[in-house]
Amino acid sequence: MTTRFDSSFLFSFNHLSSSPQFKTPAIKGRRKIFRFKSGAKLIEASSSPSLSTSSSSARNINNEIHSVNGFGDNVLYKRRAVIIAATVLLPLIGFDGFGVHAAESVTDKTLIIREGVRKVVTKGKAAGVLRLVFHDAGTFDMNDKSGGMNGSMVYELDRPENAGLKKSVKILEKVKSELDGTEPVSWADLIAVAGAEAVSLCGGPLIPVQLGRKDLTVPDPEGKLPEETLNASALKQSFLSKGFSTQELVALSGAHTIGGKGFGSPTVFDNSYYKILLEKPWASSASMIGLPSDHVLVEDEECLRWINTYADDQRKFFEDFKNAYIKLVNSGAMWKDA
Ligand code: HEM
Repeated sequence: MTTRFDSSFLFSFNHLSSSPQFKTPAIKGRRKIFRFKSGAKLIEASSSPSLSTSSSSARNINNEIHSVNGFGDNVLYKRRAVIIAATVLLPLIGFDGFGVHAAESVTDKTLIIREGVRKVVTKGKAAGVLRLVFHDAGTFDMNDKSGGMNGSMVYELDRPENAGLKKSVKILEKVKSELDGTEPVSWADLIAVAGAEAVSLCGGPLIPVQLGRKDLTVPDPEGKLPEETLNASALKQSFLSKGFSTQELVALSGAHTIGGKGFGSPTVFDNSYYKILLEKPWASSASMIGLPSDHVLVEDEECLRWINTYADDQRKFFEDFKNAYIKLVNSGAMWKDA
């Protein structure tokens, strides 16, 4: 039997105790228990914000998984311990994989990549790193199946739409060169994981990312990313050509809640993007808040419905953002086992 396993749930425990969303006592905890054939238990905290857990149960989960693995307090940070755990425990796991693409078999790689990313990506750098994801994956075109999450971003840094992204690539380059010696990682996987990490670091949803993408070694076709001057119907059309609905366009645009566009705190991932869009601050002053592509969304009836929904319900935004993000980082990806 081939055991397929996405270890991404392991690292998510780390964040449960530090992410602001888990400090809310009103949010109920939930666990899943996976039984090893050997009888040992592994407990997963849900990665879904709507099913998130309180900080105290997160700590309990942390303790429990530490004692299951038996490597003490720093288990999640200790590469060697992780490799031993992967070697000894993972082949014993007897459940079906739960990744969308079970592209890479038994691996502790997600954990190792997250650990590397966490060393270099601070809250202040999170927005630039998240933007990289859209600029790599957002070139995808369903019609000719070109572009997508293939790491070609690193060959496209001189394009005008990618201005300012060199420094984000440089940050990840450190992680990549460190990992490539022992655990080679594709740019596509690294960017996908780093973006998810950036989101959770700023208090957004925890997003599991499947590994196994291959890199392209040439740039993607030009002119595939939507321009900021597009009107709402052209933006919808652009996203549709990449396989995304209007709802997903609105959810993904919520990424602009972090960074320098004035939608609340630049380092807090929450639903202020939608709340501020509804206020239309740009209409009454010379405010620099938002991009033209943000402003046009409120003028479109269908987009406005989703903006209202997300402004009222942050959990729904987190859930939809998570799902759209997973779809984004899988767009046009070339998988190792495909
Ligand atoms: C809807 C179409 C989109 C357009 C036209 C667009 C365009 C832009 C532009 C022009 C900027 C400003 C860059 C600068 O300050 O130099 C920006 C920032 C940003 N974009 Fe988008 N974007 C779009 C969708 C997305 C999506 C889907 C994501 C991620 C899922 C994303 C993530 C970001 C982030 C995080 C920033 C802030 C970067 C920073 O402040 O360092 N964008 N976007």
